[in-house]
Amino acid sequence: METTNINKIEKNVSRIGLGTWSIGGWMWGGTDEKRSIETIHKALDNGISLIDTAPVYGFGTSEKIVGKALKSYGRRDDITLVTKVGLDWQDEQPFRNSSRERLQKELDDSLRRLQTDYIDVYMIHWPDHNTPFEETARQMAEFQKAGKIKSIAVSNYNPQEMDAFRAHAELDLLEPPYNMFERGIEKDILPYCKENDIKTLVYGSICRGLLSGKMSKDREFQGDDLRKTDPKFQAERFDMYLKAVDKLDKFAQENFHKRVIHLAVRWVLDHGADIALWGPRKPSQLDVIGDMTGWQLKEDALKEIDRIIDETITDPVGPEFMAPPEKTEV
Ligand SMILES: NC(=O)c1ccc[n+]([C@@H]2O[C@H](COP(=O)([O-])OP(=O)(O)OC[C@H]3O[C@@H](n4cnc5c(N)ncnc54)[C@H](OP(=O)(O)O)[C@@H]3O)[C@@H](O)[C@H]2O)c1
Repeated sequence: METTNINKIEKNVSRIGLGTWSIGGWMWGGTDEKRSIETIHKALDNGISLIDTAPVYGFGTSEKIVGKALKSYGRRDDITLVTKVGLDWQDEQPFRNSSRERLQKELDDSLRRLQTDYIDVYMIHWPDHNTPFEETARQMAEFQKAGKIKSIAVSNYNPQEMDAFRAHAELDLLEPPYNMFERGIEKDILPYCKENDIKTLVYGSICRGLLSGKMSKDREFQGDDLRKTDPKFQAERFDMYLKAVDKLDKFAQENFHKRVIHLAVRWVLDHGADIALWGPRKPSQLDVIGDMTGWQLKEDALKEIDRIIDETITDPVGPEFMAPPEKTEV
Protein backbone atom coordinates (compact mmCIF):
# COMPACT_ATOMS: atom_id res chain seq x y z
CA MET A 1 0.00 0.00 0.00
CA GLU A 2 1.34 3.46 -0.89
CA THR A 3 1.48 5.85 2.05
CA THR A 4 1.71 9.58 2.67
CA ASN A 5 1.77 11.99 5.60
CA ILE A 6 -0.68 14.52 7.00
CA ASN A 7 0.67 17.41 9.05
CA LYS A 8 0.49 16.73 12.82
CA ILE A 9 -0.24 13.01 12.33
CA GLU A 10 2.75 11.03 13.53
CA LYS A 11 2.17 7.91 11.47
CA ASN A 12 2.07 6.95 7.81
CA VAL A 13 -1.35 7.16 6.21
CA SER A 14 -2.47 4.87 3.37
CA ARG A 15 -3.17 6.67 0.08
CA ILE A 16 -6.47 4.79 -0.21
CA GLY A 17 -8.94 5.60 2.59
CA LEU A 18 -12.13 3.76 3.52
CA GLY A 19 -15.26 5.92 3.18
CA THR A 20 -18.13 4.84 5.44
CA TRP A 21 -21.10 6.92 4.32
CA SER A 22 -22.86 3.91 2.75
CA ILE A 23 -22.03 1.87 5.87
CA GLY A 24 -24.23 4.37 7.75
CA GLY A 25 -27.20 3.30 5.59
CA TRP A 26 -28.90 6.70 5.22
CA MET A 27 -29.20 7.67 1.53
CA TRP A 28 -27.77 4.26 0.54
CA GLY A 29 -30.84 2.06 1.09
CA GLY A 30 -29.95 0.78 4.59
CA THR A 31 -27.06 -1.07 6.22
CA ASP A 32 -26.06 -4.32 7.88
CA GLU A 33 -23.90 -3.93 10.97
CA LYS A 34 -22.14 -7.31 10.91
CA ARG A 35 -21.28 -7.02 7.22
CA SER A 36 -20.07 -3.45 7.73
CA ILE A 37 -17.73 -4.42 10.58
CA GLU A 38 -16.33 -7.27 8.46
CA THR A 39 -15.73 -4.75 5.65
CA ILE A 40 -13.85 -2.37 7.95
CA HIS A 41 -11.71 -5.20 9.33
CA LYS A 42 -10.93 -6.48 5.83
CA ALA A 43 -9.95 -2.97 4.70
CA LEU A 44 -7.53 -2.69 7.65
CA ASP A 45 -6.12 -6.17 6.94
CA ASN A 46 -5.44 -5.02 3.38
CA GLY A 47 -3.35 -2.01 4.33
CA ILE A 48 -5.98 0.74 4.47
CA SER A 49 -5.13 2.77 7.57
CA LEU A 50 -7.44 5.80 7.14
CA ILE A 51 -11.17 5.63 7.89
CA ASP A 52 -13.50 8.51 7.02
CA THR A 53 -16.85 8.88 8.77
CA ALA A 54 -19.27 11.63 9.90
CA PRO A 55 -22.06 12.09 12.46
CA VAL A 56 -24.58 12.71 9.67
CA TYR A 57 -23.88 9.34 7.99
CA GLY A 58 -26.94 7.53 9.33
CA PHE A 59 -27.29 10.15 12.12
CA GLY A 60 -24.70 8.41 14.30
CA THR A 61 -24.94 4.92 12.76
CA SER A 62 -21.71 5.05 10.72
CA GLU A 63 -19.69 6.41 13.64
CA LYS A 64 -21.13 3.76 16.00
CA ILE A 65 -20.26 0.95 13.57
CA VAL A 66 -16.74 2.36 13.03
CA GLY A 67 -16.34 2.61 16.82
CA LYS A 68 -17.35 -1.03 17.32
CA ALA A 69 -15.10 -2.18 14.47
CA LEU A 70 -12.09 -0.32 15.87
CA LYS A 71 -12.72 -1.58 19.38
CA SER A 72 -12.76 -5.20 18.25
CA TYR A 73 -9.81 -4.75 15.86
CA GLY A 74 -7.47 -2.96 18.30
CA ARG A 75 -4.40 -1.00 17.10
CA ARG A 76 -6.28 2.31 17.42
CA ASP A 77 -3.03 4.28 17.36
CA ASP A 78 -2.05 2.89 13.93
CA ILE A 79 -5.31 4.08 12.39
CA THR A 80 -6.01 7.60 11.15
CA LEU A 81 -9.59 8.32 12.10
CA VAL A 82 -11.32 11.15 10.25
CA THR A 83 -14.69 12.47 11.33
CA LYS A 84 -16.65 15.63 10.65
CA VAL A 85 -18.61 18.35 12.37
CA GLY A 86 -20.81 21.28 11.42
CA LEU A 87 -24.01 19.65 10.18
CA ASP A 88 -27.11 19.58 12.32
CA TRP A 89 -30.37 17.84 11.40
CA GLN A 90 -34.10 17.83 12.11
CA ASP A 91 -36.31 14.87 11.14
CA GLU A 92 -33.43 13.48 9.06
CA GLN A 93 -33.02 16.78 7.15
CA PRO A 94 -29.43 17.96 7.55
CA PHE A 95 -28.49 21.65 7.54
CA ARG A 96 -25.23 23.52 8.10
CA ASN A 97 -24.33 24.68 11.59
CA SER A 98 -20.69 25.37 12.51
CA SER A 99 -21.44 27.47 15.59
CA ARG A 100 -19.28 27.08 18.68
CA GLU A 101 -22.08 25.35 20.65
CA ARG A 102 -22.78 22.87 17.86
CA LEU A 103 -19.10 21.98 17.48
CA GLN A 104 -18.70 21.40 21.23
CA LYS A 105 -21.75 19.13 21.40
CA GLU A 106 -20.80 17.21 18.29
CA LEU A 107 -17.23 16.46 19.38
CA ASP A 108 -18.44 14.90 22.63
CA ASP A 109 -21.04 12.84 20.75
CA SER A 110 -18.49 11.64 18.16
CA LEU A 111 -15.90 10.64 20.78
CA ARG A 112 -18.57 8.62 22.60
CA ARG A 113 -19.87 6.89 19.45
CA LEU A 114 -16.36 6.18 18.16
CA GLN A 115 -15.27 4.85 21.60
CA THR A 116 -12.05 6.85 21.51
CA ASP A 117 -10.55 9.84 23.33
CA TYR A 118 -9.11 11.65 20.30
CA ILE A 119 -9.85 12.27 16.63
CA ASP A 120 -6.90 12.25 14.21
CA VAL A 121 -8.41 14.52 11.56
CA TYR A 122 -11.40 16.67 12.54
CA MET A 123 -13.21 18.30 9.65
CA ILE A 124 -15.85 20.97 9.04
CA HIS A 125 -18.24 19.11 6.74
CA TRP A 126 -19.64 22.05 4.71
CA PRO A 127 -19.02 25.83 4.94
CA ASP A 128 -21.69 27.50 7.09
CA HIS A 129 -22.17 31.05 5.81
CA ASN A 130 -24.33 32.06 8.77
CA THR A 131 -21.58 31.55 11.35
CA PRO A 132 -18.42 33.69 11.26
CA PHE A 133 -15.52 31.55 9.97
CA GLU A 134 -13.46 33.02 12.82
CA GLU A 135 -15.80 31.47 15.44
CA THR A 136 -15.58 28.02 13.78
CA ALA A 137 -11.81 28.11 13.21
CA ARG A 138 -11.03 29.33 16.74
CA GLN A 139 -13.11 26.53 18.29
CA MET A 140 -11.27 23.95 16.17
CA ALA A 141 -7.93 25.41 17.31
CA GLU A 142 -9.11 25.11 20.93
CA PHE A 143 -9.98 21.43 20.45
CA GLN A 144 -6.52 20.93 19.01
CA LYS A 145 -4.83 22.71 21.90
CA ALA A 146 -6.74 20.52 24.35
CA GLY A 147 -5.41 17.39 22.57
CA LYS A 148 -8.87 16.18 21.55
CA ILE A 149 -8.04 16.42 17.85
CA LYS A 150 -4.71 16.31 15.99
CA SER A 151 -5.20 17.79 12.50
CA ILE A 152 -7.75 20.34 11.37
CA ALA A 153 -9.55 19.90 8.05
CA VAL A 154 -12.41 21.31 6.03
CA SER A 155 -14.56 19.80 3.32
CA ASN A 156 -16.28 21.40 0.33
CA TYR A 157 -14.59 24.78 0.92
CA ASN A 158 -13.33 27.01 -1.92
CA PRO A 159 -10.04 28.99 -1.72
CA GLN A 160 -11.72 32.17 -0.41
CA GLU A 161 -13.39 30.17 2.37
CA MET A 162 -10.10 28.44 3.20
CA ASP A 163 -8.37 31.85 3.36
CA ALA A 164 -10.99 33.11 5.82
CA PHE A 165 -10.61 29.98 7.96
CA ARG A 166 -6.80 30.00 7.87
CA ALA A 167 -6.67 33.49 9.32
CA HIS A 168 -7.63 31.88 12.67
CA ALA A 169 -6.45 28.24 12.63
CA GLU A 170 -3.89 26.09 10.84
CA LEU A 171 -5.52 24.04 8.10
CA ASP A 172 -3.91 20.67 7.30
CA LEU A 173 -6.29 19.00 4.89
CA LEU A 174 -9.19 19.53 2.47
CA GLU A 175 -11.79 16.91 1.49
CA PRO A 176 -13.34 17.82 -1.90
CA PRO A 177 -15.15 15.67 -4.50
CA TYR A 178 -12.87 14.35 -7.28
CA ASN A 179 -13.03 11.59 -9.84
CA MET A 180 -12.66 11.17 -13.61
CA PHE A 181 -16.19 12.54 -14.13
CA GLU A 182 -16.16 15.30 -11.46
CA ARG A 183 -13.13 17.54 -11.94
CA GLY A 184 -14.28 20.93 -10.69
CA ILE A 185 -11.37 21.25 -8.22
CA GLU A 186 -8.67 21.22 -10.89
CA LYS A 187 -8.89 24.91 -11.79
CA ASP A 188 -8.21 26.64 -8.48
CA ILE A 189 -8.78 24.33 -5.47
CA LEU A 190 -6.07 21.73 -6.13
CA PRO A 191 -3.43 24.39 -6.99
CA TYR A 192 -4.38 26.35 -3.84
CA CYS A 193 -3.87 23.24 -1.67
CA LYS A 194 -0.49 22.45 -3.25
CA GLU A 195 0.67 26.06 -2.77
CA ASN A 196 -0.38 26.12 0.88
CA ASP A 197 0.74 22.63 1.97
CA ILE A 198 -2.84 21.42 2.51
CA LYS A 199 -3.27 17.70 1.84
CA THR A 200 -6.20 16.52 -0.29
CA LEU A 201 -8.37 13.57 0.76
CA VAL A 202 -10.79 13.33 -2.14
CA TYR A 203 -14.21 11.69 -2.07
CA GLY A 204 -16.26 9.78 -4.64
CA SER A 205 -13.27 8.10 -6.40
CA ILE A 206 -15.56 5.66 -8.16
CA CYS A 207 -18.37 8.21 -8.46
CA ARG A 208 -20.92 6.52 -6.21
CA GLY A 209 -20.35 3.13 -7.86
CA LEU A 210 -20.66 4.41 -11.45
CA LEU A 211 -16.96 3.73 -12.10
CA SER A 212 -17.04 0.30 -10.39
CA GLY A 213 -17.65 -1.49 -13.69
CA LYS A 214 -20.54 -3.32 -11.99
CA MET A 215 -23.19 -0.69 -12.66
CA SER A 216 -25.81 -1.39 -15.35
CA LYS A 217 -28.96 0.19 -16.73
CA ASP A 218 -31.11 -2.47 -15.05
CA ARG A 219 -29.77 -1.76 -11.57
CA GLU A 220 -32.66 -1.08 -9.17
CA PHE A 221 -31.77 1.14 -6.22
CA GLN A 222 -33.43 0.30 -2.89
CA GLY A 223 -35.18 2.53 -0.32
CA ASP A 224 -33.64 5.99 0.08
CA ASP A 225 -30.60 5.31 -2.18
CA LEU A 226 -29.40 8.74 -3.40
CA ARG A 227 -28.76 7.33 -6.84
CA LYS A 228 -32.54 7.35 -7.41
CA THR A 229 -32.19 11.13 -7.84
CA ASP A 230 -28.47 11.57 -8.61
CA PRO A 231 -28.58 13.29 -12.04
CA LYS A 232 -25.81 11.05 -13.40
CA PHE A 233 -27.98 7.98 -12.91
CA GLN A 234 -31.01 9.29 -14.84
CA ALA A 235 -32.24 8.34 -18.34
CA GLU A 236 -30.03 9.37 -21.30
CA ARG A 237 -27.31 10.78 -19.03
CA PHE A 238 -26.96 7.40 -17.31
CA ASP A 239 -26.54 5.75 -20.77
CA MET A 240 -23.88 8.32 -21.69
CA TYR A 241 -21.88 7.79 -18.50
CA LEU A 242 -22.18 3.99 -18.76
CA LYS A 243 -20.86 4.20 -22.33
CA ALA A 244 -17.81 6.12 -21.06
CA VAL A 245 -17.28 3.51 -18.32
CA ASP A 246 -17.30 0.72 -20.97
CA LYS A 247 -14.69 2.55 -23.04
CA LEU A 248 -12.52 3.21 -19.99
CA ASP A 249 -12.79 -0.44 -18.95
CA LYS A 250 -11.64 -1.52 -22.42
CA PHE A 251 -8.75 0.95 -22.22
CA ALA A 252 -7.71 -0.38 -18.78
CA GLN A 253 -7.83 -4.00 -19.94
CA GLU A 254 -5.96 -3.45 -23.20
CA ASN A 255 -3.21 -1.25 -21.79
CA PHE A 256 -2.73 -2.36 -18.20
CA HIS A 257 -4.56 -5.70 -17.77
CA LYS A 258 -6.67 -3.92 -15.12
CA ARG A 259 -10.34 -2.98 -14.92
CA VAL A 260 -12.12 0.37 -14.76
CA ILE A 261 -12.40 0.37 -10.94
CA HIS A 262 -8.60 0.10 -10.65
CA LEU A 263 -8.17 2.78 -13.30
CA ALA A 264 -10.58 5.15 -11.50
CA VAL A 265 -8.74 5.00 -8.17
CA ARG A 266 -5.33 5.07 -9.89
CA TRP A 267 -6.43 8.14 -11.88
CA VAL A 268 -7.28 10.07 -8.70
CA LEU A 269 -3.94 9.15 -7.10
CA ASP A 270 -1.92 10.00 -10.22
CA HIS A 271 -3.83 13.19 -10.98
CA GLY A 272 -2.93 15.37 -8.02
CA ALA A 273 -4.81 13.98 -5.01
CA ASP A 274 -2.89 12.82 -1.96
CA ILE A 275 -5.43 10.27 -0.70
CA ALA A 276 -8.41 8.68 -2.48
CA LEU A 277 -11.54 7.77 -0.52
CA TRP A 278 -13.41 4.75 -1.75
CA GLY A 279 -16.58 3.33 -0.23
CA PRO A 280 -16.90 -0.48 -0.38
CA ARG A 281 -19.82 -1.57 1.81
CA LYS A 282 -19.30 -5.34 1.82
CA PRO A 283 -16.12 -7.44 2.15
CA SER A 284 -16.24 -8.86 -1.39
CA GLN A 285 -16.07 -5.32 -2.83
CA LEU A 286 -12.56 -5.06 -1.38
CA ASP A 287 -11.21 -7.95 -3.42
CA VAL A 288 -10.12 -5.53 -6.16
CA ILE A 289 -7.77 -3.57 -3.88
CA GLY A 290 -4.58 -5.43 -4.84
CA ASP A 291 -4.70 -4.07 -8.40
CA MET A 292 -5.16 -0.46 -7.32
CA THR A 293 -1.53 -0.07 -6.26
CA GLY A 294 1.89 -0.93 -7.64
CA TRP A 295 1.45 0.76 -11.02
CA GLN A 296 1.02 4.30 -12.35
CA LEU A 297 -0.73 6.28 -15.05
CA LYS A 298 1.72 8.36 -17.08
CA GLU A 299 1.16 11.40 -19.32
CA ASP A 300 0.07 9.48 -22.48
CA ALA A 301 -2.49 7.38 -20.62
CA LEU A 302 -3.90 10.44 -18.84
CA LYS A 303 -4.29 12.19 -22.20
CA GLU A 304 -6.10 9.20 -23.73
CA ILE A 305 -8.46 9.08 -20.73
CA ASP A 306 -9.24 12.79 -21.25
CA ARG A 307 -9.94 12.09 -24.93
CA ILE A 308 -12.32 9.23 -24.14
CA ILE A 309 -14.21 11.33 -21.59
CA ASP A 310 -14.37 14.42 -23.84
CA GLU A 311 -15.73 12.47 -26.80
CA THR A 312 -18.33 10.56 -24.74
CA ILE A 313 -19.55 12.89 -21.99
CA THR A 314 -21.18 15.62 -24.03
CA ASP A 315 -23.65 16.70 -21.33
CA PRO A 316 -21.73 16.52 -18.02
CA VAL A 317 -23.24 17.20 -14.61
CA GLY A 318 -21.44 17.70 -11.29
CA PRO A 319 -21.98 16.47 -7.71
CA GLU A 320 -23.67 19.71 -6.54
CA PHE A 321 -26.97 17.92 -5.82
CA MET A 322 -25.40 16.59 -2.59
CA ALA A 323 -24.89 20.00 -0.94
CA PRO A 324 -26.96 20.37 2.27
CA PRO A 325 -28.90 23.63 2.79
CA GLU A 326 -27.80 26.55 4.98
CA LYS A 327 -29.59 26.84 8.35
CA THR A 328 -31.68 29.73 7.02
CA GLU A 329 -32.96 27.69 4.08
CA VAL A 330 -34.56 24.94 6.19
N1 LIG B 1 -17.08 15.35 2.67
C1 LIG B 1 -18.15 15.12 1.97
O1 LIG B 1 -18.99 16.01 1.78
C2 LIG B 1 -18.37 13.74 1.38
C3 LIG B 1 -19.36 13.54 0.41
C4 LIG B 1 -19.49 12.26 -0.13
C5 LIG B 1 -18.68 11.22 0.31
N2 LIG B 1 -17.74 11.45 1.28
C6 LIG B 1 -16.87 10.37 1.79
O2 LIG B 1 -16.25 9.69 0.72
C7 LIG B 1 -16.57 8.31 0.76
C8 LIG B 1 -16.58 7.74 -0.63
O3 LIG B 1 -17.47 8.48 -1.48
P1 LIG B 1 -18.81 7.89 -2.02
O4 LIG B 1 -19.67 7.49 -0.87
O5 LIG B 1 -19.32 8.83 -3.01
O6 LIG B 1 -18.32 6.51 -2.52
P2 LIG B 1 -17.81 5.82 -3.81
O7 LIG B 1 -16.64 5.03 -3.37
O8 LIG B 1 -17.70 6.71 -4.98
O9 LIG B 1 -19.08 4.88 -4.05
C9 LIG B 1 -19.55 4.05 -3.03
C10 LIG B 1 -20.43 2.94 -3.61
O10 LIG B 1 -19.73 2.28 -4.66
C11 LIG B 1 -20.12 0.93 -4.70
N3 LIG B 1 -18.91 0.11 -4.71
C12 LIG B 1 -17.80 0.26 -3.93
N4 LIG B 1 -16.90 -0.68 -4.23
C13 LIG B 1 -17.42 -1.44 -5.19
C14 LIG B 1 -16.99 -2.58 -5.92
N5 LIG B 1 -15.80 -3.16 -5.70
N6 LIG B 1 -17.81 -3.09 -6.87
C15 LIG B 1 -19.01 -2.55 -7.12
N7 LIG B 1 -19.50 -1.47 -6.46
C16 LIG B 1 -18.70 -0.93 -5.51
C17 LIG B 1 -20.99 0.67 -3.48
O11 LIG B 1 -22.36 0.79 -3.83
P3 LIG B 1 -23.38 -0.38 -4.19
O12 LIG B 1 -22.79 -1.67 -3.78
O13 LIG B 1 -24.62 -0.05 -3.46
O14 LIG B 1 -23.55 -0.19 -5.67
C18 LIG B 1 -20.71 1.84 -2.60
O15 LIG B 1 -21.76 2.21 -1.76
C19 LIG B 1 -17.88 8.27 1.55
O16 LIG B 1 -18.14 7.00 2.09
C20 LIG B 1 -17.62 9.30 2.59
O17 LIG B 1 -16.79 8.77 3.60
C21 LIG B 1 -17.57 12.68 1.78
